[in-house]
Amino acid sequence: MKVHEVKHPLIDHKLTMMRDKSCNTKNFCELLEEIASLMTYEVTREWETVPVEIETPLERMTGSRLKNDVSIIPILRAGLGFLPGVLKMIPHAHVGHIGLYRDPVTHKPVEYYSNLPKELDATCIVVDPMLATGGSAAAAISMLKEKGLKNICLMVLIAAPEGIEVLNKEHPDVEIYAAAVDRELNDRAYILPGLGDAGDRVFGTL
Ligand code: PRP
Ligand code: URA
Repeated sequence: MKVHEVKHPLIDHKLTMMRDKSCNTKNFCELLEEIASLMTYEVTREWETVPVEIETPLERMTGSRLKNDVSIIPILRAGLGFLPGVLKMIPHAHVGHIGLYRDPVTHKPVEYYSNLPKELDATCIVVDPMLATGGSAAAAISMLKEKGLKNICLMVLIAAPEGIEVLNKEHPDVEIYAAAVDRELNDRAYILPGLGDAGDRVFGTL
């Protein structure tokens, strides 16, 4: 099972607050945004930079900037709640959207929207708080690859072992970053202990 578990006391603290069923929509969204920013620090750790000549108020120096364009692709709906924290850290990123929902009976993803950035050389971060069966993330990444995008990673808040296995098998080139790897899925394909339905908690549609 290949996954980067982003362990940090602040992330654990904030995630525990989010998991608590008494956490209201406002606090849930704020915490999700804060964790997204903290995780972005780790997701981007190995990214390539290129030298850039600048002038400080005192002298010339060689600094660095990110080598590639960046695209952030939230999977609707819940991925929208994960987007602001990443964008805060990478404000020059392009943003694409993929709309998928899980069929309540089959648990398979159903596509309803796609609008992807045109920069094919960009490094893409697919963001979605939950990796459960892995169906939605695997489908979204296939859509990006069909469009010609190559350099893709996946950032989730909570991953189930079942979803990690599916992603590792279907997209072995894609690195997965998760704030936590939980125990298992229940018979409705919800993550245990999890935090419930992320989309409903982000948008207050419980
Ligand atoms: C949730 C979540 C993921 C998906 C994960 O979305 O945000 O996209 O389930 O499950 P999977 O790994 O089994 O595919 P959902 O389908 O509930 O849609 P929503 O975000 O619109 O509520
Ligand atoms: N989607 C969610 O929002 N929560 C889960 O636990 C599983 C899939």
